[in-house]
Amino acid sequence: MDEQAEVTRALAELVDLLELHFHTEELLMGRASFPEEHAHRLLHQACLQQVRGVLGELELGSRRSLAELRELVQVWIQDHMERQDQRFEAYLKQSAQPENHARRADLATPGIPPQDRR
Ligand SMILES: [Fe+2]
Repeated sequence: MDEQAEVTRALAELVDLLELHFHTEELLMGRASFPEEHAHRLLHQACLQQVRGVLGELELGSRRSLAELRELVQVWIQDHMERQDQRFEAYLKQSAQPENHARRADLATPGIPPQDRR
């Protein structure tokens, strides 16, 4: 397999992994009522659009080096995970605090006083 075929195959695998990762993360954000979910989803869409765009160019015969692919991964994916995904992780950790459990339960059933809930 020549380098371009290998770059294209690697990027196609990356797109599959990203779709799975983003989908799973979005499900978790929804379940956790992450307040930044919408903005985070937009970042996922932008990332996928960028990576799919490069993959489409490769499939049409454009040439990219492994170094360019590495930079793409670093800028769009590693940066996203280190900066944006950390925000979600921090939110989950904060939500796991016992005092925040009670507050979230109050928000989940508005209008019914906590003592009347079963
Ligand atoms: Fe994310």
